Amino acid sequence: MSADFIPVITIDGPSASGKGTVAQLVAAQLGFHYLDSGALYRIVAFATQQNNIAWSNAEAVAEYAKTLNIAFENEQVLLNGQNIANEIRTEEMGKGASIVAAHAALRAALLDMQHDLCKTPGLVADGRDMGTVIFPHASLKIFLTASTQTRAERRYKQLLGKNLPADDLKNTGAKNSYQSILQDLTERDARDQNRASAPLCMAQDAILLETDHLSIAQAVSFILQQYEKSKKTT
Ligand code: DC
Repeated sequence: MSADFIPVITIDGPSASGKGTVAQLVAAQLGFHYLDSGALYRIVAFATQQNNIAWSNAEAVAEYAKTLNIAFENEQVLLNGQNIANEIRTEEMGKGASIVAAHAALRAALLDMQHDLCKTPGLVADGRDMGTVIFPHASLKIFLTASTQTRAERRYKQLLGKNLPADDLKNTGAKNSYQSILQDLTERDARDQNRASAPLCMAQDAILLETDHLSIAQAVSFILQQYEKSKKTT
């Protein structure tokens, strides 16, 4: 089947909007593949840090990224055969991902890999530029968002429930941990929205889904309904 005929649902939005959870559930319901494009930038942030390559060095980051062997297998994120699923989920790697993601050369280096993950019977792809740049002809585009406060609360609860490295957890019991997450999210939003290359923005033909007052199940069900509708109109 040509890539043009493989159905793609894109779910873009800011950090901690819940798009990862929602996208995985939509993919599972439809039996589609799932692309967590943020994980790619997190892997690059992790691998470059391990090799003492500065996140700000656009050329070195992009060149090094081309040498990486990346694979997703069930819950595992494999970098050169090593599972780094937990290591890339820290706040530090989220920040690093946002910094390296601003480099146009890196975004170009990761393009083919993202297109190659689009396979039958279909794909649900989440990120920042899925609907605008990577899959502009997607069958359905969703822009999933929530207020900064709601997203910070969700991230805070997520961190508390996760078995993360000490550096990330050391503040979570402190009074200001919610504040620091809020500040971090605000900075990351600004960096993702204001960069020159593929900034976070809503595609013109995307549907806005605000989840402040929606449960995960309601968001998933809305997207599945929209997908059914989109099939009837194509
Ligand atoms: O979705 P996430 O929090 O795992 O993404 C981490 C960072 O990666 C995010 O701050 C911006 C970047 N990113 C991107 O630029 N483009 C994507 N398609 C996905 C993520």
